[in-house]
Amino acid sequence: MLRSALLAAGRSEGVRRLVEANPLTRPVVERFVAGATAREAVAVTRRLGERGLHVTLDRLGEDTLEAAQATETVRGYQEVLRLLSDAGLADRAEVSVKLSAVGQFLPADGEKIALENAQLICEAAQDAGTTVTLDMEDHTTTDSTLGILRDLRVDFPWVGAVLQAYLRRTEQDCRDLAGAGSRVRLCKGAYAEPESVAFQDKSEVDRSYVRCLKVLMQGEGYPMVASHDPRLISIAGELAAQAGRRPDEFEYQMLYGIRPDEQRRIAAEGGKLRVYVAYGDEWYGYFMRRLAERPANLAFFLRSLATR
Ligand code: FDA
Repeated sequence: MLRSALLAAGRSEGVRRLVEANPLTRPVVERFVAGATAREAVAVTRRLGERGLHVTLDRLGEDTLEAAQATETVRGYQEVLRLLSDAGLADRAEVSVKLSAVGQFLPADGEKIALENAQLICEAAQDAGTTVTLDMEDHTTTDSTLGILRDLRVDFPWVGAVLQAYLRRTEQDCRDLAGAGSRVRLCKGAYAEPESVAFQDKSEVDRSYVRCLKVLMQGEGYPMVASHDPRLISIAGELAAQAGRRPDEFEYQMLYGIRPDEQRRIAAEGGKLRVYVAYGDEWYGYFMRRLAERPANLAFFLRSLATR
């Protein structure tokens, strides 16, 4: 209930204005968001890199309804990729892109515009010497996102994508994407989805995650295990070993600000750990999904407002 309410609030303009206008929100947001600018994001990347961690940078923004804003997002990615390259960090960091931020929902030719914009970002990533992974948004976008992924991979075969274990279709999508050269970031899924398309029960989602992991680990692609769940992380290690994968043949991924000690532990023990670092001003939707994932975050947020 609480999760659905928070996810609904994450889509509400009225609540957005209230939350964004409150100056006391900022310090809490900063736990999950690395800064407002590309330079700040690159500085955080450097710090995480010094601790042996890898990074994927997400320039915050989603559900863009104006072509000019989509173009601005592309410029933002080109800028951060240039900065990463100049700082010698392109082997440490890649970028994550939401297709809805680069035009997927534009009323006319949205998919075509999103593809062209994503191609520009891929060119910039290739010039910088790094990769791009497509985030996955709600289930109404899955086919479109996987279609754009297919088109992008013709010229940029290293482009990766997120699959969400809570969707009933995902085990089959994993089979389709388990081939050589493919990069799949497997997560549980962060949106409010109907029962017709998604498992609702946490244990069912976890079981689906393990089934999907088995497919990816036994496949020929590069699995990216995006979860903070200790049980799933340990199962991922076992499945990788059973499949004969070396530590550099898959990676773990976690969000910036969540279980940082565990992030460092995995890296210190020789695992590859990538931190998903979100930055920028458009933090509202991202922040509300983080609150929805864990009721304790909401309590922390409300307490911090009350005690200031
Ligand atoms: P689960 O929610 O069961 O959490 C396990 C434990 O992790 C918790 O008990 C708690 O200790 C900790 N934890 C988890 N979330 C927390 C939070 N918000 N605050 C504090 N502690 C928390 N989703 C999506 O739909 N599309 C996408 O493209 C992506 N991309 C993505 C990239 C990466 C790198 C990650 C790690 C995650 C995503 N997600 C995502 C989000 C994902 O779907 C999911 O909502 C979160 O990762 C939480 O699920 P866990 O697997 O961590 O398990």
